[in-house]
Amino acid sequence: MMVTLNGRSQAIRAGERLIDLINRIGIEVPHVCYHPQLGPIQSCDTCMVEVGGKLMRACGTIAADGMTVVTSSPRADAAQREAFDRILGNHLLYCTVCDNNNGNCTVHNTTKMLAVEHQEIPYKPKPYEVDMSNPFYRYDPDQCILCGRCVQACQTLQVNETLSIRWEDEHPRVLWDGGAPIGESSCVSCGHCITVCPCNALMERSMLGEAGYMTSLSKSALDGMIDVVKGIEPEMGYGAILQVSEVESHMRESRTKITKTVCTYCGVGCSFDVWTKDRHILKVEPSEGAANGVSTCIKGKFGWGHINSQDRLTKPLIREGDTFREASWEEALTLVARRFAEIKAATGPDSLAFISSSKCTNEESYLMQKLARAVIGTNNMDNCSRYCQAPATMGLFRTVGYGGDAGSITDIGQAGLVLIIGSNTAESHPVLATRVKRAHKMHGQKLIVADIREHEMATRADVFFRPRPGTDLIWLSAVTKYIFDNGLASQKFIDQWVNHAEEFKKSLESFTLEMASERCGLPIETLTKVARMIAEADGVCVLWAMGVTQHSMGSDTSTAISNLLLATGNYMRPGAGAYPLRGHNNVQGASDHGAMPNYFPGYQEVADPVIRAKFEKAWNVSLPPKPGLDNHMMIDAIHEGKLKAMYLFGEEMSLVDSNANFVSDALSKLDFFVVQEIFFSETCQFADVILPASPSLEKEGTFTSTERRIQRLYQVLEPLGESRPDWIIIQDVANRLGAGWKYEHPAQIYEEIAALTPLMAGVTYERLEGYKTLQWPVAEDGSDQPLLYTKEFHFPDGKARFYPVPWSEPTDQPNAEYDLHLNNGRLLEHFHEGNMTYRTEGIREKTPCTFVEVSPQLADERGIQTGSWVQLTSRYGKVRAQAVITTRVHGKELYMPMNSTDEAVNRLTSSHTDKATHTPAYKETSVQLRVLGEIGDDPLPRTNSRHGHPTPQTGVEVERKWKRKDYRQPGEHLVQIQTLKA
Ligand code: SF4
Ligand code: SF4
Ligand code: SF4
Ligand code: FES
Repeated sequence: MMVTLNGRSQAIRAGERLIDLINRIGIEVPHVCYHPQLGPIQSCDTCMVEVGGKLMRACGTIAADGMTVVTSSPRADAAQREAFDRILGNHLLYCTVCDNNNGNCTVHNTTKMLAVEHQEIPYKPKPYEVDMSNPFYRYDPDQCILCGRCVQACQTLQVNETLSIRWEDEHPRVLWDGGAPIGESSCVSCGHCITVCPCNALMERSMLGEAGYMTSLSKSALDGMIDVVKGIEPEMGYGAILQVSEVESHMRESRTKITKTVCTYCGVGCSFDVWTKDRHILKVEPSEGAANGVSTCIKGKFGWGHINSQDRLTKPLIREGDTFREASWEEALTLVARRFAEIKAATGPDSLAFISSSKCTNEESYLMQKLARAVIGTNNMDNCSRYCQAPATMGLFRTVGYGGDAGSITDIGQAGLVLIIGSNTAESHPVLATRVKRAHKMHGQKLIVADIREHEMATRADVFFRPRPGTDLIWLSAVTKYIFDNGLASQKFIDQWVNHAEEFKKSLESFTLEMASERCGLPIETLTKVARMIAEADGVCVLWAMGVTQHSMGSDTSTAISNLLLATGNYMRPGAGAYPLRGHNNVQGASDHGAMPNYFPGYQEVADPVIRAKFEKAWNVSLPPKPGLDNHMMIDAIHEGKLKAMYLFGEEMSLVDSNANFVSDALSKLDFFVVQEIFFSETCQFADVILPASPSLEKEGTFTSTERRIQRLYQVLEPLGESRPDWIIIQDVANRLGAGWKYEHPAQIYEEIAALTPLMAGVTYERLEGYKTLQWPVAEDGSDQPLLYTKEFHFPDGKARFYPVPWSEPTDQPNAEYDLHLNNGRLLEHFHEGNMTYRTEGIREKTPCTFVEVSPQLADERGIQTGSWVQLTSRYGKVRAQAVITTRVHGKELYMPMNSTDEAVNRLTSSHTDKATHTPAYKETSVQLRVLGEIGDDPLPRTNSRHGHPTPQTGVEVERKWKRKDYRQPGEHLVQIQTLKA
């Protein structure tokens, strides 16, 4: 297909927009409102070109075979200029004293591109105040060009539906919830709108007065300078004024550092540039991350207060009685090595245990397991995937072979149907959730949500149902049986690709619709509807998380999910498959890189003599053959007196492990406990030595996200005080124990990993440079697999396996004494217990404490209101919290977010576990509730987004602008004159 563009023939791509074609070829045409990740908005009119002699917006026109396009005819040029002149009527060009004058301001750059000297339509301020009510960003209506990018991003990409422009108003502006202050709106502070704003109308507050050389001047001085600019413009023109501002902009380059990193919070794996001036974080700017593009959530965009927090550990600490004293690195490391050696000599290597951090890098997990195995001689090695992800991995190991997501986030966006089970995706994996929300809102994707709680995704779903807690396996099996019984299964796929079909079908016999309906408390019609929707969908992705895995049947339910996908042929194709959503930024990577009791890196079995021999040869040691203790077993072994010492880094074990009182008790019994941390965590209380580590922004390495995506992070800042990157500390400990390691950079560690790990054979730092990524398995030649199963499944015969799973009663069931079921999980604003996120003031302001959600029914029954203090008591402990009455929970269900170190929900959870993986059954907790009589304010302040009232609309709705009486398409006038002449 060809078009004639400015007289030349050009090949076009199917569905290509003219503006994309023009940009691809490198022709300069202004386009202010167009952003490739948002699609055409068509509000600015600056991209007018002639198509077949008619003026058209290049962003809103799809290139078609035979088209004749002229981008710089006198008419097109005049139309572009007229459109841009209107923009300047809304925006004052005070670039030299603007914090957005950093070379990437679209308004500035377009002024320069069009060589604008004077404007026809004079600048006119709008009759509104600057809105400073959000702690993270501000809106200046006077600078807003009404391009609508922010609205489009909020409505169609983030899909929070907060922003709109009421085009019918006399003086339109951007509105939050139709006219509320930002700080009291439904805005979740994700930052999409700020990131896409083409000028300074929306800006991070951390930039204000900081980015420029002259932007910190007082308001009156700034106003004075702006007046000078306005004064000289008629005489000098903008050209000269812009030149001055460009000198200032270039000067900024020497002091503003821009470094790419990967988010430290959840497993979505957003990557972005961090702009810094010395240690001040100017802003986080996402643009081209493989997982996120321009997207972030509040944590990735603004949650960096922990980096420069006064609370950072900056010196090693050594216990002295009940307190700690500062020590030198030399003294601390020598003590650690001496005590490890003594304990190993006295009670053997298996009396020591090592816990790696899912917050730290792949290279650091690799070194920790190497220290445990090669230097100490034990496989007592684990990471916190034990607390959440191990059952999902087990379900996939059993059925399809690899313990990783079947495809990429793009596959989830592309699926015909997304089924979410036990995942509060919009809060726990916010950016991934945006892809589902967008596909559902804009592209007709179907959404089914199964959850005991009505979270945001549930409110958006086509079908939402609440199975009784712990019964997901039953309805999944019943739906699968129904699909088989009614000839809806993908028989061809099963015949070709799946073993054990007959045995599996037989195992489903007892899972009738009637049985499922009764046990799960669901109407049969819901089950059949769900079954039919799944069977008929063009590609199904199942997303699940801790609502499934943190049950005593976590592995079996995960297996049932994969069985259902196999039965319906939803593997081996784009837009389909199993997507367990990994919690921490690097929980996938920690396991991938051997921080497990039974696996070397790449899931190579420690019990396999051939594999072991390979590692023995490479590391020049002999290695223990028996799998070691996992986290759960370690706690028992401490109580039993078998485990004497532990080395743990980047993990708040005493609060995030289930049955926290029992865990704390164990940690206090250790003979020697080393904790490597960035803050004095609750777990540090039990330590003998505390080693100050560096957070993600202060080191290099790689993280692996939920979609098996390996990404590099670069060092943004120097380590604070005497803190050090974890890989350096682990190496120092190893070397004091005689290891003789000589790694000078994490890249060298990865070379060793790649050489020993077929799954990562082709991973190199060069192949991961900048924003480049690889999704494992990575072959030696560097080819990776965004879609995991293309040619075969990961079993010797290349076929997947149906894996029958029975159902059993959940543990810790409610009874007359403990009559309520307690659910728990994350909140959008905080990550887990909040050790890092509480250090960001704005987050603390919006979400200061934990609380317990109570249903209106239960509230009525017990006389509870929002703000009432209640005490929850389980069979294992008690906590106090304030109630929030909400329909998110139902009947006798309670929900308590994890964001507390004082009243941690895990003081209530039990030591019951998933049978196959020992993952704690956090979600099987029964409690009794006592109303304490005191009533305080709503624990969620007025500024929390939950109090807002979104205003959904299809996007910017520019058609409403075009209907305004004062709107005239630029160039129309010219067209008329020419027509008349003709
Ligand atoms: S939710 Fe708030 S921060 Fe996010 S795009 Fe909408 S208005 Fe902007
Ligand atoms: S605030 Fe929104 S409408 Fe105004 S200039 Fe920025 S992106 Fe455009
Ligand atoms: S917390 Fe997760 S969704 Fe939010 S920015 Fe970080 S990686 Fe992205
Ligand atoms: S870029 Fe086409 S109308 Fe704005």
